[in-house]
Amino acid sequence: MEFRIGSIAGDGIGPEIVTEARKVLSGIEEKFGHTFHYQDILMGGCSIDKYGDSLTDEAIEQAKSSDAVLMGSIGGNTSTSPWYKVAPEKRPEAGLLRIRKALNLFANLRPSYLFPELASSCPLRREVAEKGFDILILRELTGGLYFGDRYTKEIDGVMTAVDTLKYDENEIRRVAKRAFEVAMQRRKKVSSVDKANVLDSSRLWRKVVNEVSQSYPEVELEHVLVDSCAMQLVRNPGNFDVVLTENMFGDILSDEAAEISGSLGMLASASLNDTSFGLYEPAGGSAPDIAGKGIANPIATILSAGMMLRYSFGLSKEADAIENAVRKVLSDGYRTGDIMSEGCKKVGTSEMGDLIRERL
Ligand code: IPM
Ligand code: MG
Repeated sequence: MEFRIGSIAGDGIGPEIVTEARKVLSGIEEKFGHTFHYQDILMGGCSIDKYGDSLTDEAIEQAKSSDAVLMGSIGGNTSTSPWYKVAPEKRPEAGLLRIRKALNLFANLRPSYLFPELASSCPLRREVAEKGFDILILRELTGGLYFGDRYTKEIDGVMTAVDTLKYDENEIRRVAKRAFEVAMQRRKKVSSVDKANVLDSSRLWRKVVNEVSQSYPEVELEHVLVDSCAMQLVRNPGNFDVVLTENMFGDILSDEAAEISGSLGMLASASLNDTSFGLYEPAGGSAPDIAGKGIANPIATILSAGMMLRYSFGLSKEADAIENAVRKVLSDGYRTGDIMSEGCKKVGTSEMGDLIRERL
């Protein structure tokens, strides 16, 4: 089959890790007889350098004309990079938020799975790590605090900043439905995370999630307060299956979930709308401190490419091949620096890509 892939290399380690994901995808083309046509799309700091804005209308159109978009990472060092001297709405992160909104990517899937081979990189107590976990964080991605009105101004002589957290029932309903549908394919449990003891938006969230759950009687639903969820993630992560939550809570909890799975460099993600289109990116960030050194972990990006094959292209055998190749590389003892442990072989970004490609 043939597919058109928009490719956003971005900034920092982005170009290096996207190169490795494309390397693995070329192995898939070869092995399974598919053809992937790439269209490079400029976004992030590199787009500011060229156009003065992290995301142009042309980039959005290019993304829309693709079957799916594969992305590396965007942004730089927020205290030193010139990209943070431009207006806030033109900065790298704002571009990412804008493309998510423009493509209506409201459902962000972030799987956090502890590969048994990485148990020693897991910062949790041994008896917790040994039990393993397989969590899917479903983060609402186009609403809430990151998209509400915001401003900073002097009120009665005092500088004041305001951010607005707003959700309507339709935004909650569509992502909640997605959570129950995904749970039906997994272990049939949804943990909906909110702060309903304080926030109105959370009380509406809980009400709508309860309503949606009526249509999925086989799925067990629990409500968990976000602070308690943060605690339970380190105490007993094996209890979670699908974790459904709003935008900011999902941003924070998914970093925590990634870290307990060994490293942020292991966290893949898929951002989906109501069609088969999706934007696939590692959730780890641009890591400007290690950019260009050839030491970044490309696994999250490679696993994101696997999610693209599964969710946007319907190629589940091919997606399995990528996941199995990653597992094989880990059980063969190869590690990038971030997941390195005693007795393993340390490799760089490009070697890791080669090793995974060889094992498809
Ligand atoms: C993420 C990132 C982004 C977010 C930033 C870069 C805007 O942290 O994908 O988790 O908050 O969504
Ligand atoms: Mg984040």
